[in-house]
Amino acid sequence: MKLLIKNGRLIDPANNLDGFYDLIIEDGLVKEIKPKGLIKDTDAESIDAGGMIVCPGFIDMHVHLREPGFEYKETVETGTFAAVNGGFTSVVCMANTNPVNDNASVTKYILDKSREKAYCNVYPVGALSKGLKGEELAEYGELREGGCVALSDDGRAIINSRFMRRAMEYARTFGLPVISHCEDTNLSNGGLMNEGYLSTRLGLRGIPKISESIMVFRDICISELTGCHLHIAHVSTQESVELIRYAKSKGLPVTAETAPHYFCLTEKAVIEYNTYAKVNPPLRTDEDVDAIKEALKDGTIDVIATDHAPHSIQEKDVEFEAAASGISGLETALPLSLTLVREGYLTIRELIEKFTTNPARILRIPEGSLSPGSVANIVVFDPEVEWTIERDKFKSLGKNTPFHGCKVRGKALYTIVKGRIVYEDRKG
Ligand code: DOR
Repeated sequence: MKLLIKNGRLIDPANNLDGFYDLIIEDGLVKEIKPKGLIKDTDAESIDAGGMIVCPGFIDMHVHLREPGFEYKETVETGTFAAVNGGFTSVVCMANTNPVNDNASVTKYILDKSREKAYCNVYPVGALSKGLKGEELAEYGELREGGCVALSDDGRAIINSRFMRRAMEYARTFGLPVISHCEDTNLSNGGLMNEGYLSTRLGLRGIPKISESIMVFRDICISELTGCHLHIAHVSTQESVELIRYAKSKGLPVTAETAPHYFCLTEKAVIEYNTYAKVNPPLRTDEDVDAIKEALKDGTIDVIATDHAPHSIQEKDVEFEAAASGISGLETALPLSLTLVREGYLTIRELIEKFTTNPARILRIPEGSLSPGSVANIVVFDPEVEWTIERDKFKSLGKNTPFHGCKVRGKALYTIVKGRIVYEDRKG
């Protein structure tokens, strides 16, 4: 089977390509890229990508697929359908399932389900500790052999610094990055939103910014001691950014991600007790948003990931204190992130790097490029098309978005996984 994608602006940061090129896929692989009009293959099916951008499929390195155990929130099937709707061809799924992905039989279950049901590639993350309890190390060798690409207790913090040291020593010997959910839970202490004037006014217990940055600094110190690759998840504060910048200036093996809600929203989104804006870490202030945008611009933050955290409506449509934390992010990440290009923080190529080459490099997965011979994981998107975010139209079971009703620009129109069109949106 052959598929020709023609007339688009093709951007492939891994091969330093940006221009009008046609690309042909054969038997699931990228066969050839040539300047526009030069591939003459009449028996190939074709996509006219005029006015669109053609680039490697996006990789979301922070997704909660919820299966096994929480299939009422999301499944491998619905989560990956949401992913391809958003332009992602690979997702990296966190270990906070039930049972926890702390052994190879759970990893196998996720990968078997993915082979059977997934619309895109799925890479599991193994737990750092058994049962996410922060007490006993999981078997990292077994998890790696089973197919895990990183280790994390995301959703839970590792409070015991000695445990984190042992975990990073052990992870290093297996060449696996540790993705850290940085939160001192003694400081966050069951808080519900960012700590400050607004939390006081609303009468909601606050989460101080230092509950994140103290742990960011601790983990940077442990990374320096152990030599383990540390990846900081969902960065939300200016102070964390400054610490990561310091770590990078010292040449430490530290990388970082943020999510679109941390550069598109502030704590003001929770006024009126909007539980759809309740997320952990919480939305912060204008200064933090500015710092995160600057950090994306100067490379301190390597990756945009969604922290896609689907929950049922019943878990969100309750009083603020009782509501689950998290935002369903896969289907809104592209247009929200394109605002960084419109505001001049990133070039379109840099944005694509944060969604493709950078996560691929961090996780050492064979993705994120359009090199001839590589597996054809590709997205074709229109950066300008206007549409309105409507949560009821999400493919995800998680309708929990604070962006419902927002007018945005930019949409994936074709998502291609292993050479097959798995999602097509002709209307935009
Ligand atoms: O808001 C969040 N939800 N933050 C996390 O770290 C975990 C996630 C979840 O699993 O729901």
